[in-house]
Amino acid sequence: MCTKLKIDLPVCLRGSNHYVKVFRDPSKFIGSVVKRAEIARWLLRITHKVVPRVRTCFKFCDMSLYIPYSVFNPVFTCSTGLLIKNLDPRGVVVEAGSGSGVISIYAALNFNPEMVLGYDINPVAVAASRLNAKMNNANANFRLGSPRIKADYIIVNPPYLPVEPLDDLDLNWCGGSDLRILRKMLKHASKLLRYGGELLTTTSSLTGVDFTASIMRRCGLDPEVSDSRPTPLDRVYVIRGIKF
Ligand SMILES: C[S@@+](CC[C@H](N)C(=O)[O-])C[C@H]1O[C@@H](n2cnc3c(N)ncnc32)[C@H](O)[C@@H]1O
Repeated sequence: MCTKLKIDLPVCLRGSNHYVKVFRDPSKFIGSVVKRAEIARWLLRITHKVVPRVRTCFKFCDMSLYIPYSVFNPVFTCSTGLLIKNLDPRGVVVEAGSGSGVISIYAALNFNPEMVLGYDINPVAVAASRLNAKMNNANANFRLGSPRIKADYIIVNPPYLPVEPLDDLDLNWCGGSDLRILRKMLKHASKLLRYGGELLTTTSSLTGVDFTASIMRRCGLDPEVSDSRPTPLDRVYVIRGIKF
């Protein structure tokens, strides 16, 4: 078995220690942060370009979703599911970057918030999320642009890969090489959060948990990692921050 593996694996991975590390955490062996972010970008680009040609209707967390071309698909990543698992919405709930509307719709269906309002800069995503809310009988509304109302609970699954967007499709996952898009979204969201309110967001080990937590601290939030999940390329984290 070992001999066969030694023949099949690249030279750089040979040696018993390497085998153990590769199988425990494959992400360690897929190059630098930028290389891994580039791989993630291209995997997301390919799936989001190919899949809508053959399939646009999906089941996710017991919801039926219509996800056309250009709209972020939660099925291909783990960030959306991880956010949903950690949701505890209350009062006025706002989602910045609502994509297909999946998180807002889940919040409206499974909790008892006063109101749920999702915002996105992609008009196709806004149209799809309105349709998805209707299909699932959810009392969630969606608007084009950035959030504009004060909220008790804000959800942001931002584009967090530290690479430059090549086009509009990339705005779903690329936060810019300086992560300005991610910073802008978190800054804007925390301004709209009421004191004592909570912001729930995701980040990746490619972005840096400390980096994201420091942005949140500078925005007057008290960040705390509440969950994480490994993927072959990174580790995805959920961070909650209370506004003080
Ligand atoms: C990672 S996707 C998350 C989508 C959805 N919340 C989910 O979890 O499935 C990020 C979303 O943010 C949107 N977005 C990017 N920049 C934005 C901005 N400046 N303001 C509002 N939405 C933005 C994108 O269009 C995309 O729908």
